[in-house]
Amino acid sequence: MRTIYLDHSATTPLDDRVFEAMRPYFAQQFANSKAVHRLGHEAEAAIEEARVTVARCLGCMPEEVVFTSGGTESDNLALRGLAQYARLHSQPFTLITSAMEHAAVGATARQLHEIFGASLRILPVDRYGRVDPDDLRAALRGLPADGIALVSLIYANNEIGTVNPIAELSAIAHEHGAYFHTDAVQSPGHLPLDAQAMGLDMLSLSSHKFYGPKGAGVLVLRQGVPYLSAQTGASHEDGRRAGTHNTPGIVGTAVALELACAAREETSARLSALRQNLVEGVLSRIPDAELTGHPEERLPGHASFVFKDVLSSTLLMVLDQHGIAASSGSACKSGNEQPSSILEALGYGPAWTRGGLRLSLGRDNTADDIAAVLDVLPEAVAAVRRLALPSHA
Ligand SMILES: Cc1ncc(COP(=O)(O)O)c(C=O)c1O
Repeated sequence: MRTIYLDHSATTPLDDRVFEAMRPYFAQQFANSKAVHRLGHEAEAAIEEARVTVARCLGCMPEEVVFTSGGTESDNLALRGLAQYARLHSQPFTLITSAMEHAAVGATARQLHEIFGASLRILPVDRYGRVDPDDLRAALRGLPADGIALVSLIYANNEIGTVNPIAELSAIAHEHGAYFHTDAVQSPGHLPLDAQAMGLDMLSLSSHKFYGPKGAGVLVLRQGVPYLSAQTGASHEDGRRAGTHNTPGIVGTAVALELACAAREETSARLSALRQNLVEGVLSRIPDAELTGHPEERLPGHASFVFKDVLSSTLLMVLDQHGIAASSGSACKSGNEQPSSILEALGYGPAWTRGGLRLSLGRDNTADDIAAVLDVLPEAVAAVRRLALPSHA
């Protein structure tokens, strides 16, 4: 049975062209980029070429590109880097974030607050999961004059697809003397991404979200941002991230990012149209179903729903039996029936918060895939409701 893969927000397949670019660096050109011999210099040259490409795609300088092991590490380095710098200089540290963050930011922020004494302000969101610029303005009032403040807000939410007005929010942060970081992990290939034009001090990416390799990512760290690496070791990446370079991963990241940026407008337009049909089809065929996230200001290929009286984990298993690979969008796995904190933050009650479904499209999906999902999903939801609640029999 062919699998219809609708879980691109979780990860994407490696692009063949990316794989070919990476291939030499696994075996023939395997040397450590820090080695003094010729092979080492070749690895270093490949990394520096990748850095230039990534910088060109992201609107920053090559020296501002830090290669990491992925989105989680980039988020950690960003938040902890400023917190540690503040601690070193005995400055109060304030972190402002939102209820919509991925755990890589959310859990890091909580730990910085609980264990390291950072002052933490968590912004509310509207019913689509967007941060209101006025709430950010209010949170930025009364910051300690001698302190360092960081605003970290997600660009596009992984679970509900909503896109924040990042350029506007970063401008507000700067007006109040705060630094601005965005988790842009879901954005490459879908949304414009330019650190200079959007006024970003830091941004995090993860290569496996844009047809690149797993275990590779980027932190853009603009010059002048106070930073003390949370990771200690040798002096790789100019002391900003220690550890032997993942040369194939770095080369693959650059090629994947370049391809994603070049195809962005065409792919986004096509996926938006497919997603629109999917959303209309689901909402018209299934009772007690809602689209979650913003109807327009959302990732082009991202459709997320919530179904009343449905357990996502069961629904996902039923869909899987029909060859449809989907996700709830949250960390809900079989046997882990925790309600989604994102759906709770949007105001959904207990009858809804275990019933999220995320269908995230990628460049290989077609209108036939959407038709197949619309054939299967209504009966799958009805079957899960019958299992869970006799009232739906
Ligand atoms: C918004 C967001 N941030 C961070 C991450 C973590 O990225 P990685 O898997 O590269 O650690 C993810 C991955 O799901 C994500 O969607």
